[in-house]
Amino acid sequence: MEQDTQAIVLEAEAEAQTAADSRALYEVKMKFLGRTGKVTALLKGMRDVAAELRPAFGKKVNELRETLESKFAALEEKMKKKEMAAKLSGEQVDITMPGRRRKQGTLHPVTRVRNELIDIFAGMGFEIYEGPEIESDYYNFTALNTPADHPARDMQDTFYLGDGLLLRTQTSAGQIRVMENKQPPIKILSPGRVFRSDDDATHSPMFHQMEGLVVDKHITLCDLQGMLDEFARTMFSQNSKTRLRPSYFPFTEPSVEVDVSCASCGGKGCPLCKGTGWIEVLGAGMVNRRVLENCGIDPDEYTGFAFGMGIERIAMLKYGINNIKLLTENDVRFLEQFKD
Ligand code: PHE
Repeated sequence: MEQDTQAIVLEAEAEAQTAADSRALYEVKMKFLGRTGKVTALLKGMRDVAAELRPAFGKKVNELRETLESKFAALEEKMKKKEMAAKLSGEQVDITMPGRRRKQGTLHPVTRVRNELIDIFAGMGFEIYEGPEIESDYYNFTALNTPADHPARDMQDTFYLGDGLLLRTQTSAGQIRVMENKQPPIKILSPGRVFRSDDDATHSPMFHQMEGLVVDKHITLCDLQGMLDEFARTMFSQNSKTRLRPSYFPFTEPSVEVDVSCASCGGKGCPLCKGTGWIEVLGAGMVNRRVLENCGIDPDEYTGFAFGMGIERIAMLKYGINNIKLLTENDVRFLEQFKD
């Protein structure tokens, strides 16, 4: 018996040596001390031991159990310490390691110019109105004094959707929506996407416009030019000037094309302004009486001006971008140049 228990202790020690972690160690322990373990089996075998030998036998087995229990407890303690140390060293943070820099995005140049325009005009008291991109023929053309057979319809190649609907070709459509719903004074700024079947280095089938509309008593062309001067100075350069050239739009009378002095050469003439010293930036004019009438505003009491500019065009002039496609390709190497 003495030898048997000795052998079991040695066996348990040998097996415990091979346990790689506390889970494996637990399994070895169960093999000896668990419900179906070897020591438990010895206790169960007591029945077969002669009655007079039983007390001595029982004592031996109990001693064996206590020995093993304390050995396993010591081993478990050691194993836990080892595992904790491994876990801690695995989680160690190297505070001298350089941080990972997060790449920060930038605003798209069109968004940037749009925001800048809003800042400039909001500072003059304009409110923002955004109209729908799918418009009816009425708002995009007819109410803007451009009925179906009007030659000016050819100025803009329109995507017609059928049922009297189209993709708006100009944010001017929003002018009607505003004036229909509100009596003067009106002072709105209307940014948005517009669509034309047009595609080359300076034209894209989708682009952005910024529309401005002011209607009140005694509004004149002078008010328009004063505001545009302020816009040109803030957007391009402190020395920028504007000039108005006669033009034609069905919904304004008189109509003008607005040029800004070339910021690249200061007006002396260079390749950017094709030697003229001036760059065309927008269309504008005094709101046509017919348009006011269409919206229920009395043209004898009120006058107004409107202007509309292409946001991509302004961005191209401001940043020297030579192809409008760069603004829709989303090449990060191009876009990341527009940092604050
Ligand atoms: N809607 C015109 C265009 O797209 C621009 C414009 C707006 C002209 C307002 C006059 C007044 O060409």
